[in-house]
Amino acid sequence: MRFNIAVTAGDGIGPEVVAEGIKVLQAVGKKYGHDFELEHALIGAIAIDQTGSALPAETLKLCQAADAVMLGAVGHPKYDDPKLPVHPEDGLLAARKGLGLFANLRPVHVFPELVNSTNFKPEVVEGVDFMVVRELTGGLYFGRPKRQWTTTKGRRAVDTMSYSEQEIERIVRVGFELARMRRKKLVSVDKANVLMSSRLWRQVAIEVSQKYPDVELEHMFVDATSMRLIQNPKYFDVMVTENTFGDILTDEASMLAGSMGIPPSASISQVPKEGVRIFGLYEPIHGSAPRRAGQNLANPIATILSVAMMLRYSCALLTEAKAVESAVEQVLREGYRTYDIMSEGMTRLGTREMGDVIASKVGK
Ligand code: IPM
Ligand code: MG
Repeated sequence: MRFNIAVTAGDGIGPEVVAEGIKVLQAVGKKYGHDFELEHALIGAIAIDQTGSALPAETLKLCQAADAVMLGAVGHPKYDDPKLPVHPEDGLLAARKGLGLFANLRPVHVFPELVNSTNFKPEVVEGVDFMVVRELTGGLYFGRPKRQWTTTKGRRAVDTMSYSEQEIERIVRVGFELARMRRKKLVSVDKANVLMSSRLWRQVAIEVSQKYPDVELEHMFVDATSMRLIQNPKYFDVMVTENTFGDILTDEASMLAGSMGIPPSASISQVPKEGVRIFGLYEPIHGSAPRRAGQNLANPIATILSVAMMLRYSCALLTEAKAVESAVEQVLREGYRTYDIMSEGMTRLGTREMGDVIASKVGK
């Protein structure tokens, strides 16, 4: 089969980890006889440098025409000044919004080989495997008004946490559908004891649950969720939550897996179904890590696992997706580690070498 993939490597370690994702993708193509046509485009700080925009119109067009998008990371310290009119992150947010990618799937899987590399007791993280469904195009990130202004008493700023019932319904449905394919337990995370948007969220979640009698729905406050996540992460199967809560909880959850360099993500605009190809954007959950850039240090596993998600959802190539995941597993079993998950007695590899060994195991 033939697929058009838009590649937006972005900033910092983005290009380095994306290069390894592509290496593994090409290994899949070679092994299973597929043709992955890659087209590169600018996003983030590098796009601002070259065009003035964090998401040039050309990039958006290329992404819209592709079967899937592979993204590295965005962000650079030279654009950290909050007073600047444009930030690299705007490019990522505009891509998510512009492509209608309202659902962000972030699986958290603890590889048995890494159980001893986390900061947790082995019995806490062993066997952890859950999916966070993060709403991606609403809430505090996009709600209006959103601005800073000056009053007679000084400066003031506002962000708005706003959700329509349609926005809540479609994301909660994704949560239920995924739970149905897994252990049939959905935790809807909100702050309904305080926030109006969360109260609507909870009402809609209950309404949608009528159509999913086979899935157990539980509501959990976000503060309690952040506690439960590290106290007993095995409790979770699928979690569905609004944009900002999901952002925070998934950074926390990545530590269960041992490193920010492990969890992948898929941003999609419809419920994934086995055998059906859907458009999506695939990126590691980590950022551009500018201090690690250009040193062949970064862990490419999150990007490589994102490629596996792309094969599964956007290419409907299940065998190939599993081949990538088991290649990662094999390499970890054989003791290969990047710096972030390094432990005694293991073999330390750089970004490129890690990509090489994983690519060499695809389909083996
Ligand atoms: C993420 C990142 C982004 C977000 C940033 C880079 C805008 O933290 O994908 O989790 O907040 O969504
Ligand atoms: Mg984040």
